[in-house]
Amino acid sequence: MPSRSPAARVRELRAQVERANVLYYEKDAPEISDAEYDALVRELRELEARHPKLARPDSPAQKVGGKRSEKFRPFTHRSPMLSLANALHEDEARRFFTRMRELAGTSRVQFSAEPKLDGVALNLLYRNGALEAAATRGDGETGEDVTANAAVISGIPQKLNSPSSSESDSVPELLEVRGEVVIATADFAELNRKQAESGGKIFANPRNAAAGALRQLDSQITASRPLSFFAYGIGSAEAPPDSFPRAHSAVCKWLDERGFELPKLRKFSDDEEVLLRYFAKIRDERADMPYATDGVVYKVDDFTLQKKIGYVSREPRFAVAHKFPSETALTRIENIDIQVGRTGVMTPVARLAPVVVGGVVVSNATLHNSRQIEKLDARIGDYAEVRRAGDVIPRVESVIIARRPADARKFVFPAACPVCGTPAKSREMKRDAKKKQAEGEWIYCPNLKCPARLRGRLRHFVSRAAMDLEGFGVILVDHLVNSGKAEKPADLFKLTREDLLAMEKIADLSADNLLAALEAGKRTELARVIFALGIDGVGETTARELAKFFGSYENMRDAVELPEIFAFIPDIGTETATGIRRFFQQEGGEAELEALRAAGVDWTNPAPKPRFCPLPEFLAKMRNLGAVIQRARIHLVSDQPPLHRLGAAGAEKLAQAFPDMPSLRDAPVEKITDALGGKNQDQETAQRIADFFRHPHYAEVIAFLERLGFEWTEAANTEPAANGIAGKVFVLTGTLSAMSRSEAKAQIEERGGKATGSVSARTDYVVAGENPGSKVDAAKKHGVKILDEAAFAELLAENGQE
Ligand code: IVH
Repeated sequence: MPSRSPAARVRELRAQVERANVLYYEKDAPEISDAEYDALVRELRELEARHPKLARPDSPAQKVGGKRSEKFRPFTHRSPMLSLANALHEDEARRFFTRMRELAGTSRVQFSAEPKLDGVALNLLYRNGALEAAATRGDGETGEDVTANAAVISGIPQKLNSPSSSESDSVPELLEVRGEVVIATADFAELNRKQAESGGKIFANPRNAAAGALRQLDSQITASRPLSFFAYGIGSAEAPPDSFPRAHSAVCKWLDERGFELPKLRKFSDDEEVLLRYFAKIRDERADMPYATDGVVYKVDDFTLQKKIGYVSREPRFAVAHKFPSETALTRIENIDIQVGRTGVMTPVARLAPVVVGGVVVSNATLHNSRQIEKLDARIGDYAEVRRAGDVIPRVESVIIARRPADARKFVFPAACPVCGTPAKSREMKRDAKKKQAEGEWIYCPNLKCPARLRGRLRHFVSRAAMDLEGFGVILVDHLVNSGKAEKPADLFKLTREDLLAMEKIADLSADNLLAALEAGKRTELARVIFALGIDGVGETTARELAKFFGSYENMRDAVELPEIFAFIPDIGTETATGIRRFFQQEGGEAELEALRAAGVDWTNPAPKPRFCPLPEFLAKMRNLGAVIQRARIHLVSDQPPLHRLGAAGAEKLAQAFPDMPSLRDAPVEKITDALGGKNQDQETAQRIADFFRHPHYAEVIAFLERLGFEWTEAANTEPAANGIAGKVFVLTGTLSAMSRSEAKAQIEERGGKATGSVSARTDYVVAGENPGSKVDAAKKHGVKILDEAAFAELLAENGQE
């Protein structure tokens, strides 16, 4: 590229950076990725440094931010809003710590570390404790006055609290509070969905969405977007000497007490190992964090020291942003292929010009389905933003239409399976936020014997969370399928030493190890088998729920004839029920399970447990059935929900009048009418209830539930509560020293409890580890019991596994 003269290159770079600035700061619709932008600015700065004659004070390399929009009144910050230098690698972060100690002239410097929220910077001006103005960063000196909008953003106090406990309680006459306006990742997805529905603008990421919402002339629109403000520091403070904190950590505490929200999980330490471990922790957990987080900011804590260390151009020298590897990158879609998965679904996959995303090289990204291609208007040859978050499969997130080359081609979805040639079928899928599934039409290969489907099924079957057959990697599995040695999962267990010796040549394997893995895999548990079979819609958690609920695969098989049963399984949707039915009725599920058994696979069934289901709850489930079953397109006994005239109050009355299921089941219509209130319309409802209980299908449903251990009355539930965890709702927050969060969750679930994400009045316990965050406040608000790690460990021990 630099074959051109430096002057020409500088001109070109300035134009590119300026254009990017306009798109980013003013239009909230960038066309290049952050990494590309950073590369442009870096190159420009280097050239300007190397050729001082080319440098200009108004060069975009010297400026922060973009032009203010004319829409808003200008607002000049009392002290400039600076930007931060980046550290992109650990060694750059280490060099920062070393330099700080050198500049401070001491070997112990206290640092603060906190998440770098990826939103829009906002400056709040408080006069004598009352919010006077709010302004965006703009060019760092002057921003846009968005005071009217600040009033509708959560986390911005109109008046500063004055904590009674505080000794030096004077509020500065003038105070600039700096922070980030963000939109939660979940709210962002929802917002984009609504925007799409109403034909509005689709935002590329939560930051753009937050910027767009903040810079609305109509604060009604801002108010309708879920924005939050998190404070991360102060600008200028005019306060009498010694009346205001003199360190960042103290300022954070001060702001917290005055009613601001601050980024959770802050850390203060003088040990760089501690700080780097903190960085790694935030990086690894960022996918689970409610707000987009693109790094960690390290700051020298003490203000006097900060001042001594000083500033370089527009950046403080005493702070640095240690960035996470970018989760998104911009690259070219070179082609689009169809991949056939284990369920037969034909997924369009973009073949990309290789690009580093989230620290690894990515050359494929999913496009989900045909409708998604249409929605994105993705074409072969397009530039696209690709996202890879955590371990999630990379996906094409948006397409830069403005950068579309003239020869970009539309993709034509094939009408047949590209692997076996069977004409494709299609199925409508609803959006499932929990499974992060997109809405759309799923085109699939209906051929159960399609080699692609078989390969996919076997790869899944051997995987760690399924049968955990060590050594059975992708290459081996594919070869077993291609050579005809494995036509179904059970065939794996029939492989002989000779079969495996032949495979040793293909991959570097040991037949003995493989045989040992197969032997070990034969002793397993029902939940794993259910998961391993790859039933549509049955993930690891669902498989565990199903195993626990049914206790045996035979029960699950029998239940497909009684679809009402599925309504009693926690967290199971109609799609899952349909998947299970298809598995047994069309896909030879039973034969598959029996083949496994015949091949020597032996699984333990969970012990049956009594389950208490109060009569009103049973009646409510039955009342809601119609919709559930219709949605699942499962046969109906009649086309109306069996108890659709019965309300919640009626159900309560019945439970009062009839102490148990048999007495209601055998009650004459008159008695039911009386119990309901004896009015005319009650008679019709009563008739329906009587019909319901006399209907052989529902009698079978009830008998089946009873066979699974269901009990309908409290009296029957004489056993002492299994333990103090069963049925309780937990929220985990902070870091536990003895176990990871997922381990803690598993421990709770093993004991019959539930671990959820957010605190509400229904939460029973909040378990608070180190650096617990706002959930503890929420717990206090709702009067929820808070357990520290020791108390949690004790509770687990007291209620040892069943
Ligand atoms: S301190 C002196 N702390 O990142 C500079 N900034 O790239 C003050 N940001 O303009 C910045 N989280 O908008 C700081 N915990 C945090 C932050 C943070 C996000 C943003 C902020 C700043 C930009 C710098």
